[in-house]
Amino acid sequence: MSIGSHHQTTHPRHGGEPRAESSTVMRAARIERFGGPEVVRLVELPRPEPGPGELLVRVRASTVSVADERMRSRRLPRGFSLLVAPTVGLFRPKVRVLGMDAAGVVAAVGSGVGRFAVGDEVIVMRGSRMGCHAEFVTIAADGQVARKPANLSFEEAAAIVFGGHTALRYLDRVEIVPGSEVLVNGASGAVGSAAVQLAAARGARVTAVTSGRNAELVRSLGAERVIDYTQQDFAAPGEAARYDVIVECVGNAPFERVAHLLRPGGTLLLVILDLHGLVWAKRQSRRSGLVVDHEGGRMDAAGMERLAALAEAGVLRPVVDRVVGFDGIVDAHRHVDGGHKRGSVVLRVG
Ligand SMILES: NC(=O)c1ccc[n+]([C@@H]2O[C@H](COP(=O)([O-])OP(=O)(O)OC[C@H]3O[C@@H](n4cnc5c(N)ncnc54)[C@H](OP(=O)(O)O)[C@@H]3O)[C@@H](O)[C@H]2O)c1
Repeated sequence: MSIGSHHQTTHPRHGGEPRAESSTVMRAARIERFGGPEVVRLVELPRPEPGPGELLVRVRASTVSVADERMRSRRLPRGFSLLVAPTVGLFRPKVRVLGMDAAGVVAAVGSGVGRFAVGDEVIVMRGSRMGCHAEFVTIAADGQVARKPANLSFEEAAAIVFGGHTALRYLDRVEIVPGSEVLVNGASGAVGSAAVQLAAARGARVTAVTSGRNAELVRSLGAERVIDYTQQDFAAPGEAARYDVIVECVGNAPFERVAHLLRPGGTLLLVILDLHGLVWAKRQSRRSGLVVDHEGGRMDAAGMERLAALAEAGVLRPVVDRVVGFDGIVDAHRHVDGGHKRGSVVLRVG
């Protein structure tokens, strides 16, 4: 059961009937240049073929995420423009078909694949290679792919990948025990909503920072306390050092602003930061005795299986803002650009 599903479109639209398995072309959403949502175009592209050790996955759902927004618009955290040029591109986008995550069905396997078979339902994370806003995508069979949680629809399964993957990577860097105090800034977004659930499941007392309209949502995810950022500055000078972990998912809570809220030995997990924060993180850690971590842990096949298991156990529940078809993808980008989505904006494919 997805949370926030009352925000799903009641008449899901889709961009045409699925193609016959024998077709050599596929529909995809593609960008030709950097720009606003309107640079996203629906096109036909050659269907990829799985190489040795790869799966070909028929995508049933993906999400339009902040990563897509950043890749499409080149709106990046301050100072990152040159640093990420090899992945994002400088004048022209490096990646034309966006979409980091997918839920779908294995349509073909390359030679030497034992882990999956045709017909298996899977979740996929392609990271910065993207490509999931298409009817088909390939992925290394021993890479970031796992069986889809059986209790979730494709749309719901797609909705746990981007945020769940990120939240798990970061929360794996800290020890959370029953009673740990964890603050999540941006608790109603894709990453924040997963971080709230995963921290609460480990026994943390979670404080969620979001706007009042999302208070009920984040409480339902396990937050004990909600701070409405439109009413109160959670990091006001003079606030007590009460947190063991702060998870920063907005981009407005650098070390300088929130260090005084952390107990001795506490950790600031910077899911998002600018170049200044990146350059100074190590020194800030050394000098303060706090841990400032902007990297998160690594993800692999086993991590994706853990993610799927957490969802299957009901620990990590999908938060679906809305579901759109290919014909709604430009509006979906527009909504993501607004910075106020709840959980994930799901793209239904085929
Ligand atoms: N390091 C990595 O590997 C990694 C991976 C994934 C994502 N990220 C980054 O992590 C960030 C979060 O991603 P996301 O997908 O979770 O974003 P998102 O879903 O777009 O986050 C939107 C949410 O943020 C809340 N929000 C907006 N302004 C806020 C404020 N001032 N204080 C508190 N909450 C606020 C909104 O709540 P209201 O509507 O109530 O305002 C909304 O629910 C992005 O910057 C992304 O680039 C990093």
